[in-house]
Amino acid sequence: MIPRLLADILESARWAPSGDNTQPWRFEVIDDHHLAINAFDTRDHCVYDLDGHPSQMALGALLETLAIAASAHGMHAEFRRCTELSDTHPRYVATLNPQDQPPDPLFPCIRTRSVQRRPMRTTPLTAAQKTALQHAAGNACSIRWFDTRAQRRQLARLMFDNAKLRLTLPEAYTVHRDIIQWRSRYSDDKVPDQALGLDAMTLRLMRWVMASWQRVAFFNTYLSGHLVPRIEMDLLPGLFCAAHFAILSARAPQTIDDYVAAGRAVQRFWLTATHLGLQLQPEMTPLIFGRYVREQRTFSRLPGMMDTATELSARLSRLMGDSLVERVVFLGRIGHGPPAASRSLRLSLERLVEREK
Ligand SMILES: Cc1cc2nc3c(=O)[nH]c(=O)nc-3n(C[C@H](O)[C@H](O)[C@H](O)COP(=O)(O)O)c2cc1C
Repeated sequence: MIPRLLADILESARWAPSGDNTQPWRFEVIDDHHLAINAFDTRDHCVYDLDGHPSQMALGALLETLAIAASAHGMHAEFRRCTELSDTHPRYVATLNPQDQPPDPLFPCIRTRSVQRRPMRTTPLTAAQKTALQHAAGNACSIRWFDTRAQRRQLARLMFDNAKLRLTLPEAYTVHRDIIQWRSRYSDDKVPDQALGLDAMTLRLMRWVMASWQRVAFFNTYLSGHLVPRIEMDLLPGLFCAAHFAILSARAPQTIDDYVAAGRAVQRFWLTATHLGLQLQPEMTPLIFGRYVREQRTFSRLPGMMDTATELSARLSRLMGDSLVERVVFLGRIGHGPPAASRSLRLSLERLVEREK
């Protein structure tokens, strides 16, 4: 039996976002006021989870969500990382103590926050909205906005070209194949295909093509099979938004603690966007490939992929600022519009809470 207070808090905390909805964590009840979070990363099979950093950011988002959920139950959550464990399997112990503070106003947004991958309105953010978002990310982070028409066009073009890399990379194909749930509006542990931002016809074709790498390679080579998906998933959404934004930490993140802290800031930013009625989509893959390039690390068995990534990385650096790009922890787009009609759900608490060994 999970103690009532912990069950209530975890019922909300489990809605934290994670790359491809992997939910790289399990919970372990220690006693009524102590809980362990046993995390893991997917670096051994996911080309995007470079050094486990995206999973560590998701873990930060989970801790922040848990703290917000605890506040709604009159509790303050404190976290301690068990530093003797490997970074691939981080463990945190959460301690809950009663507190005299009002609930965090972001609490109601935990359940409604979601990715919007479709085009949004281009109505600019107001100065007050930008200030609230900067405030949400905290003093250790700064926000760079790319909101002029020219900047949105440049970022849209970068995302469009970056998507060609993603969609022609065999190492990414296996990831996409395993995390998309076809013919679905909702998914407990994957991304439903209807949340990808594609129209129904393209989705049907993609489902057929993605059944094998041979089909993908054939379509890409002879029929430019990546073109329509890139227009629908990257170019149009890149143009139709209020702004693209980069969240920069004060110095380039290095340790797991840096990435977890960045994830906490990102989640406050995202929940605040929800609070303001704004939609958001992360655009993380150019950052990830950029890091492969900076560190000269091979990510594909196909020749030529590194050259493509090098060219994209140079463009990303020019846009972000050569001296700043290593400090960018999160890249995304934001805007006004309705929330996504299709979204990822979460594993049930029964699946997420580990039984005593
Ligand atoms: C660290 C991190 C990186 C992510 N990167 C991307 C991304 O590059 N593109 C994207 O569309 N969504 C991205 N997401 C969003 C996840 O796919 C999404 O949070 C997850 O599928 C759960 O869906 P929900 O946020 O709608 O609940 C990212 C999320 C996190 C936490």
